[in-house]
Amino acid sequence: MSFSGRFPLLLKKEPAMSSKNRPLVVGNWKMNGSRAALGELVAMGKGFDGALRSKIDLVLCPPMTHVALAAQAAVGTGISIGAQNCHAKVSGAHTGDVSAEMLADIGATAVMVGHSERRTDYKEKDADVRAKAEAAQRAGLMAVLCLGETKAEREAGKALSVVRRQLKDSVPANMPAHQLVIGYEPVWAIGTGLVPTAKDVEEVHALIRGDLKRLLGKEEGSKVRILYGGSVKPSNAAELLAVDNVDGLLVGGASLKAEDFLTIAGFYR
Ligand code: 13P
Repeated sequence: MSFSGRFPLLLKKEPAMSSKNRPLVVGNWKMNGSRAALGELVAMGKGFDGALRSKIDLVLCPPMTHVALAAQAAVGTGISIGAQNCHAKVSGAHTGDVSAEMLADIGATAVMVGHSERRTDYKEKDADVRAKAEAAQRAGLMAVLCLGETKAEREAGKALSVVRRQLKDSVPANMPAHQLVIGYEPVWAIGTGLVPTAKDVEEVHALIRGDLKRLLGKEEGSKVRILYGGSVKPSNAAELLAVDNVDGLLVGGASLKAEDFLTIAGFYR
């Protein structure tokens, strides 16, 4: 089920050839960072040069408190800023929450919805995730919709059915491809150093692609970018992005340092 960063069968493939969609690398800082840490964003901006910018999109999602500052710091760098969550409603009596419209107002262009840590910590269900994705669409943001099976579900042979259910129940029916990104993040791979085999990633991404075409229509479904996430590091990124239907990567811990994040994004050069 897991491996330590080697895909011998894939080394002959050109990473950038695995997808015809424009690659996307998203960094998720989770509940980490500070004003000082925004220096890493500035360094990322310096490393995200014209050659790389012409090839890929780069999005960084800092904690909510730092989204506005990050959006200011990112001006002119080519890096887009996203948030890690939003409320489904536009406004109202929801103490402590932030709407997708508010995120757009402070310069965010993307928002993550349905991350497994929110599904666990806040008991978010597929219907909640769908409502948040609709909110992102309404506010003109790109939704990075995360899904993936737990360790127990994979061991019970249910990984594919769980992912299919999450996709079916959380993707809004009329979502345009440019506003939707799917992040396949097996829960057991997040922050553990464990990564699925290339074959497993390929199987799940192919399934997601097929279902997206059925849900959104063939053309839109083929244009939605599908990212892999879970223990992505500079040491395994090239092999992961060589897998068919992997349109990019969703990076947690390794996005905190500009050097690591740029090394990962730099495989698309
Ligand atoms: P890690 O890269 O730290 O495993 O986190 C993955 C993740 O949850 C990104 O959303």
